[in-house]
Amino acid sequence: MGLSLAAGVAFEEQAPPGAPGAPLLLVHGAGGTHDHWPEALRRLPGRRVIAVDLPGHGASPAPGEKAVQAYARRIVDLLDALGIASAVVSGHSMGGAIALTLALEAPERIAGLLLVGTGARLRVVPAILLASADPTRASELASAAAGFSFGAAASPELLRAFAEGMAAVTPGVVHGDFTACDAFDVMDRLGAIRAPARIVVGAEDRLTPPKYSAFLRERLPGDGLLVVPGAGHMVTWEAPDAVTREAMLLLAGIS
Ligand code: COA
Repeated sequence: MGLSLAAGVAFEEQAPPGAPGAPLLLVHGAGGTHDHWPEALRRLPGRRVIAVDLPGHGASPAPGEKAVQAYARRIVDLLDALGIASAVVSGHSMGGAIALTLALEAPERIAGLLLVGTGARLRVVPAILLASADPTRASELASAAAGFSFGAAASPELLRAFAEGMAAVTPGVVHGDFTACDAFDVMDRLGAIRAPARIVVGAEDRLTPPKYSAFLRERLPGDGLLVVPGAGHMVTWEAPDAVTREAMLLLAGIS
């Protein structure tokens, strides 16, 4: 499936004619692209699905942004450009931070939230933040990030694919992403969110541990907290069927 461009954001779109319900918008995490989402989710039958490459990532033109709110504004611009009044937003990691920010700053545009491997606060280990500021360390950082991003059972091929994808992102963009994550904190604001949320996290997630998801579940409307045994932070690749199933359950409860 080819990518389109609107409001400076590249996106993959599946648009079945006459698809009912709010479109599903997929937002990847730091240093990722749309292909961090399971293919089955990007091809969900009978639903309009839009999987973005955030500014500066994948096929989207540079620069990236350095704050979660700035990424959220770019998503609102994209919704405007596509004439979408309201979407169900699925966010992974930093994408989840963007989804939560949209639910707070533009609540009328958000019909539901699927929050995958994320949290209401995303402090970044200082050594990672520092390494990401040095362009000569991009491939070292990508390999280290791959080592942290998966459960013990993940295949070496998955780790390699992740590291190659991250190394291909402009280094300054990855640093902007980690800077954005590090400053993100809506722990005290979750009570203002009205959109129903489902939550998924890998039991072995070391970057956004299950504790972060439990915190979201206690404070957000909706139901469902799936902790996937054996999966790490890249639960979208490690357990694609489970993530897709949770999205279907969320969508079934909304439209
Ligand atoms: N949801 C719920 N609780 C959270 C939270 C969240 N999103 N973020 C932090 N907390 C909790 C912590 O678990 C900790 O609880 P505790 O005092 O009971 O142990 C407390 O809030 C303070 O945590 P934090 O502000 O993160 O400070 P810290 O100095 O303990 O740790 C880091 C800083 C960076 C080492 C730590 O946040 C970490 O390991 N982060 C994950 C690794 C990472 O880089 N992730 C990348 C995200 S994109």
